[in-house]
Amino acid sequence: MIKIRDLSKRFGKLQVLAGMNLDVNEGETLVILGQSGIGKSVLLKHIIGLIKPDSGTIDIDEVRITDLKGPDLFKAVQNMGMLFQGGALFDSMNVEDNVAFYLRQHGDPNTGRKISKGEISDRVSHALELVGLQGTQKKMTSELSGGMRKRAALARLIVYRPKIVLYDEPTTGLDPIIAMQINELIVKTKEELKATSIVVTHDMFSALYVGDRLALIRDGKIAQIADPNTFITIDDPLIKFLYCTISQDPRKLKEKNHHG
Ligand SMILES: Nc1ncnc2c1ncn2[C@@H]1O[C@H](COP(=O)(O)OP(=O)(O)O)[C@@H](O)[C@H]1O
Ligand SMILES: [Mg+2]
Repeated sequence: MIKIRDLSKRFGKLQVLAGMNLDVNEGETLVILGQSGIGKSVLLKHIIGLIKPDSGTIDIDEVRITDLKGPDLFKAVQNMGMLFQGGALFDSMNVEDNVAFYLRQHGDPNTGRKISKGEISDRVSHALELVGLQGTQKKMTSELSGGMRKRAALARLIVYRPKIVLYDEPTTGLDPIIAMQINELIVKTKEELKATSIVVTHDMFSALYVGDRLALIRDGKIAQIADPNTFITIDDPLIKFLYCTISQDPRKLKEKNHHG
């Protein structure tokens, strides 16, 4: 469980986070919505320990990561994975080397145990299968399309079996069909890893498709947080606007895809 209390962060004159409180429950997918530039990526970077707050605390499974630095911080956050906005891959490596990179580098994230070549290769091909990129091990990442790159980045993340997965705008800039594949993969990854996930987005369709709860950031705080059914009925101009932007309620589609 992730527990954020009174988290504040400013850059120069800009107060980005202003006493934010947020709990993320074990195993849930929490979606964070909010306008561009409001502090969504900054929040994720705090959770994964890349940014230190000016004040406030973040506890992850009872460990106060905001008090840690160096190797202690590294150890506390190594069971987390983040899909960065650009889905950065290493262009000089093929798909297999990209996906295996962190496993070869760090071993098992939970135990630090070194993993054998055979096991790495098995885990890589399983992860590639999961994202629909089976057999692409020897392809160079420069040969992949935008959607394939995003899926390869996701494979690199899930091969590591993180307990907490952070997605920064996973569908932004993708065409609707690829975006839908990514939404499906977020649901599948959650089921496969039994992970706790936070998905940052301004894509309401994606939010309703993947989210167990939805939250809205405003003025450096969580302004609204609720289950999807309640969330879409909240009397808030931004929520109303976001809900207007979608022509079909994705939850019906999800029911069809997952139970039919
Ligand atoms: N390292 C930084 N230094 C200065 N300003 C930053 C830094 N990171 C983010 N910001 C600013 O903080 C605000 C929130 O950024 P961000 O979290 O990236 O927004 P978004 O909600 O679009 O992800 C933006 O105005 C951004 O310019
Ligand atoms: Mg961002």
